[in-house]
Amino acid sequence: MQHDKVLILDFGSQYTQLIARRVRELNIYCEIHPYNKIPTIIEKYKAVVLSGSPQSVRGDDALHPDLSSIRAKKPLLAVCYGAQYLAHFSGGNVAPSNTREYGRANLSFVDDNDPFFKGISIGSQVWMSHSDTIKTLPTNGVLLASTHDVEHAAYKIEGETTYAIQFHPEVYHSTDGKQLLQNFLVDIAGLEQDWTPDSFVDETVADLKAKLQKDKVVLGLSGGVDSTVAAILLNKAIGDNLYCIFVNNGLLRKNEFSSVLKQYEGMGLNVKGVDASARFLDALAGVDDPELKRKAIGRVFIEVFDDEAHLIKDVKWLAQGTIYPDVIESVSATGGPSATIKSHHNVGGLPDFMKLNVVEPLKALFKDEVRRVGASIGIDAQLLGRHPFPGPGLAIRILGDITAEKVRILQDVDAIFINGLREWGLYDKVWQAGAMLLPVNSVGVMGDERTYEKCVALRAVESTDGMTADWVNLPYEFLQKTSNDIINKVKGVNRVVYDISSKPPATIEWE
Ligand code: XMP
Repeated sequence: MQHDKVLILDFGSQYTQLIARRVRELNIYCEIHPYNKIPTIIEKYKAVVLSGSPQSVRGDDALHPDLSSIRAKKPLLAVCYGAQYLAHFSGGNVAPSNTREYGRANLSFVDDNDPFFKGISIGSQVWMSHSDTIKTLPTNGVLLASTHDVEHAAYKIEGETTYAIQFHPEVYHSTDGKQLLQNFLVDIAGLEQDWTPDSFVDETVADLKAKLQKDKVVLGLSGGVDSTVAAILLNKAIGDNLYCIFVNNGLLRKNEFSSVLKQYEGMGLNVKGVDASARFLDALAGVDDPELKRKAIGRVFIEVFDDEAHLIKDVKWLAQGTIYPDVIESVSATGGPSATIKSHHNVGGLPDFMKLNVVEPLKALFKDEVRRVGASIGIDAQLLGRHPFPGPGLAIRILGDITAEKVRILQDVDAIFINGLREWGLYDKVWQAGAMLLPVNSVGVMGDERTYEKCVALRAVESTDGMTADWVNLPYEFLQKTSNDIINKVKGVNRVVYDISSKPPATIEWE
């Protein structure tokens, strides 16, 4: 089934992905493309959105899209830079603003007879972020909305289905932003709202069946949401021709390898658990630099995976849980498209599994959509709601060099902390949590004995994407009980501290 699609042209705004997410929340499919790489088959798209940009339309480095296949031919919504672009280069004028135009503003005039502003009235809060302002509207421009400081906050072009807005409908602070996008996409441009998790599952499974037929596919499971959802979709399409490999690098949480493996088997996946803990620990012996740890773990993972993939006869495909943010081609600050796709110059030197054809069933989805798809195919809510866990695992939470004994200590501490969060109903309020084993011994007293043992730091953060984060104000009673449990139950630890640093300037992991 072909869905109606929206084309979002990116001019480098920090909010471009948010536009796409808001459109998807309306159950409408959309794609982001750089402003200077407009798809040649434009008929595929039923409407186009121009994003904002850090550039100014008045500057020498203003970004000039070639809109000849779009303008006056398709419904067009221009946001911020897009709105200024249409004004400045089509008979209007853009100039520096006299007052700062950042943050919240309220509409002081709205033409609510126009379908674009249906259900939105004077006073509606909108989010501004621009230093230029539209002084005069372009040829055939008709004013649709103003705020106290911005007269030309929204306009349309008579004779075209072209709308332009100075504010950002995609940010949550524009309280009617989603309504506005819906008015434009559904009422004005006539798109169907039929992009749903269920439709995605049906179509993806059908596509995978057609593409893979009787071929064998290998996939590395990590225990995380993306690889699990990818595996279940592939399993629905090709059953046991999907060979999953779940590697224990010895740096997982306590009992995680066996419990996740059991869970995977319960889902009907053809999965092989490979315990390579010793191989990883050997490679890490004496390594204390965080980046070298990451490199060693990455190298051993590839070796182990390659060995295992070789055991599967005639495997043709490598499946990956890549998601949409990983594949969007970004526009750099100077406006030039920056290639993010790696070129494999040295193909001969790659491990064999990397020479396989690649299949990526989730590459059109954002993270929250992967979760929605996961829920619709019946993946356990507990698995879908799991905190993120870094690929190098506990290696980057043991500061300094790694030994089996240190891993044991940290696994025990981490298990007390995480189980405690669950028992106290705090787990889902935290975005990510874990414990760090510090390379310090400190003096303590237990019974009448002097101790000289390890210190652990607990970390729990709130975040939406891991880019910024703040520490969570966990109840004192919880911290008190957890600290007591750790010191009493984990041999080798006599001190517990709680990390109260935000990111930035700190990071979430300590290494
Ligand atoms: P930081 O420490 O940079 O972490 O604030 C942000 C998010 O990324 C995770 N993280 C990693 N994930 N490999 C991964 O797969 C890594 O090397 C790695 N380093 C950090 C971290 O757990 C947090 O969710």
